[in-house]
Amino acid sequence: MAGRLADRAAIITGGAGGIGAATGLLFCQEGARVVLVDSDAEAMERAVSHIQASVPHACVVAVVADVGEEETASEVVAQTRRAFGAIDVLANIAGIRAYEPLAQARRDTWEKIIAVNLMSYAYFIREAITDLRASGRGSVINISSTHAVNPRAGMGQYDVTKAGIVSLTQTLAFEEAKHGVRVNAVCPGLTLTPFHLRRAQSAGRTRQDLDHEAAEGCLLGRWANAREVAYPILWLASDEASYITGSVLMVDGGRFVR
Ligand SMILES: NC(=O)c1ccc[n+]([C@@H]2O[C@H](COP(=O)([O-])OP(=O)(O)OC[C@H]3O[C@@H](n4cnc5c(N)ncnc54)[C@H](O)[C@@H]3O)[C@@H](O)[C@H]2O)c1
Repeated sequence: MAGRLADRAAIITGGAGGIGAATGLLFCQEGARVVLVDSDAEAMERAVSHIQASVPHACVVAVVADVGEEETASEVVAQTRRAFGAIDVLANIAGIRAYEPLAQARRDTWEKIIAVNLMSYAYFIREAITDLRASGRGSVINISSTHAVNPRAGMGQYDVTKAGIVSLTQTLAFEEAKHGVRVNAVCPGLTLTPFHLRRAQSAGRTRQDLDHEAAEGCLLGRWANAREVAYPILWLASDEASYITGSVLMVDGGRFVR
């Protein structure tokens, strides 16, 4: 299949979520063979059906698993090798949120968010690295957040993990350049995904409230849709970004331009 990721195999964690599913679809549309990993079985079914309906002959494998468990990474890497023979692209997208002020932050919340948002990225990198090096065009894209570098109150545990992802990305870029693996981070800003819609609904907030928040929240005055974040991920995965490594790309509608 032709496309910007033709002949490449990719693992996408969080592949059934808003940004993950959009990335999976776009990668398949650009010719990649894709393994989606997510703990949400129903969302996974929807994501895979959507890909299969949109991309004739898509090569997509669904793995329902908890990336917060260390052994998941080695199991998924082994499954990917069996299905596709290699791994050329790793997109670490899985993420959870927590809303405890740091003064009240609980140990189990810390442990869970670090396991999913940070350690899973590290374990998938470690397990896939041999294949990424052998690829000759290996690319890792780690999803951080604008709040990795722009502080706020109320989501300290999440923001700490996202800052950790930036550090992980830059150190790994140093270590892997000599092996031909590029490593970059994408920091989304306000991206409207089912997560935000569900959260707004349960707080009694309307779509208008959400739009008002975005109008005030960034230069472009609106939410991104997930595909607008998936495109920069695709670009970093592709040969078009062959001279880009160690970068931290803000995809935030100009949210923090000062
Ligand atoms: N949407 C935004 O505004 C925004 C902004 C900045 C950063 N991000 C980051 O982008 C990524 C995707 O966000 P999204 O908005 O699409 O959210 P989302 O909640 O729709 O997607 C996250 C996915 O990760 C999966 N997941 C969570 N824990 C898991 C686990 N233990 N094992 C396997 N899968 C697990 C979820 O099931 C979900 O499908 C996250 O890392 C998030 O922190 C999003």
